Amino acid sequence: MLPLEPARIRDLFPAFSEPSLQGQAFFENAGGSYTARPVLDRLDHYYRALKVQPYGVYRASQAAGEAMNLAYDRIAAALNVTADWIHFGPSTSANTYVLGNAFAGWLKPGDAIVVTNQDHEANTGAWRKLAGSGIEVREWQVDPQTGRLDLSGLDALLDDKVRLIAAPHCSNIAGEINPVAEIAQRAKAVGAVTVIDGVSYAPHGLPDLQGLGADIYLFSAYRTYGPHQGIMAVRPGLAAQLPNQGHFFNDAKPRYRLTPAGPDHAQIAASAGIADYLEAVAGIAGQHIDGADPFRRAHAAMRAQEVALLRPLLDWIRGRNDLRLIGPADAELRAPTVALALREPGAVVAARLARHGIMAAGGNFYAWRLLNAVGVDPTHGVLRLSFVHYTTPEEIARLIAALEAEIS
Ligand SMILES: Cc1ncc(COP(=O)(O)O)c(C=O)c1O
Repeated sequence: MLPLEPARIRDLFPAFSEPSLQGQAFFENAGGSYTARPVLDRLDHYYRALKVQPYGVYRASQAAGEAMNLAYDRIAAALNVTADWIHFGPSTSANTYVLGNAFAGWLKPGDAIVVTNQDHEANTGAWRKLAGSGIEVREWQVDPQTGRLDLSGLDALLDDKVRLIAAPHCSNIAGEINPVAEIAQRAKAVGAVTVIDGVSYAPHGLPDLQGLGADIYLFSAYRTYGPHQGIMAVRPGLAAQLPNQGHFFNDAKPRYRLTPAGPDHAQIAASAGIADYLEAVAGIAGQHIDGADPFRRAHAAMRAQEVALLRPLLDWIRGRNDLRLIGPADAELRAPTVALALREPGAVVAARLARHGIMAAGGNFYAWRLLNAVGVDPTHGVLRLSFVHYTTPEEIARLIAALEAEIS
């Protein structure tokens, strides 16, 4: 029995009752998820009733500011941190770019950082640019067969010169869930900060950041049932030390220092709907799913649902010895972001799957370095099939039948 009843979950996404999307099974969630109804409701309300300058002196303005503040509070609660951790930016790529610039002014020539070749370019390119400021860049490399990051590889790179480790919670290609708490512990032991890209993990349940111990955790709201925003949680003591990236006269305002693009008021307010949605998921999961609060229960339920949905797909892949799966074949170890390296370019196969009502994509998904490392030409690309807890067993069966027909 699935822990989440698909019909009740799907009822919370208008996309599933949208006539133009009927008969289409969505397997490109790692690119961007459908948007949950509470998010759309909050966005709609903001544009209708609160679309004035927030944080002012008149009633509508104050209500707009309160709607935005609520989002900081609610996202922080979902991540088990305080609201002063939370910063919104236009995207995770923009957020890492700003952080990279901030760290360029914080690190000293001769300091070292560790980056991976498993990351999406957003959480590696921005850090590698620091080489231009005299920072030594060390690369934690994946196993070329499996795409796996082994902690022994990290250990070999650590010494007291290392000030920062940037790594993914989960790759958008290999899918394996990396041991973030262990990475953060190792970083702490040498006096380094940890920057974790959670973009490919967060849609499968927002993590408890106190438990993970990372100093910076990034994810994209628009892949996590929300609006097109990047969210970064930054340990407040660290954020205060980083040089101000905003206007000089806002230096004393923590929320303004790492967000030079300026806030998208309506989308920030709408992000509170992500927390509303996760609470609804916890309610649907019921008490048999463990967790200290609704957000932890939603996380546990989403993971359990996805593991159950993923197994038949991985079984089918294992049964085909002509397919190369990047990352582990064990559903417990990975997110349901499944990349296949095929004889044909991934995008060509995706186009054929579209004829079966399967919405998927092929390419390198900006994980250029990872594809190179595992011996796949990034211009040839992989076929990526990514889903979340709202996917149904019937859709998985349809996907497998379409793959059977289209991959020779
Ligand atoms: C793992 C990962 N990190 C970062 C990003 C960049 O996110 P954004 O589109 O918000 O810039 C992506 C986008 O695909 C991603 O998959």
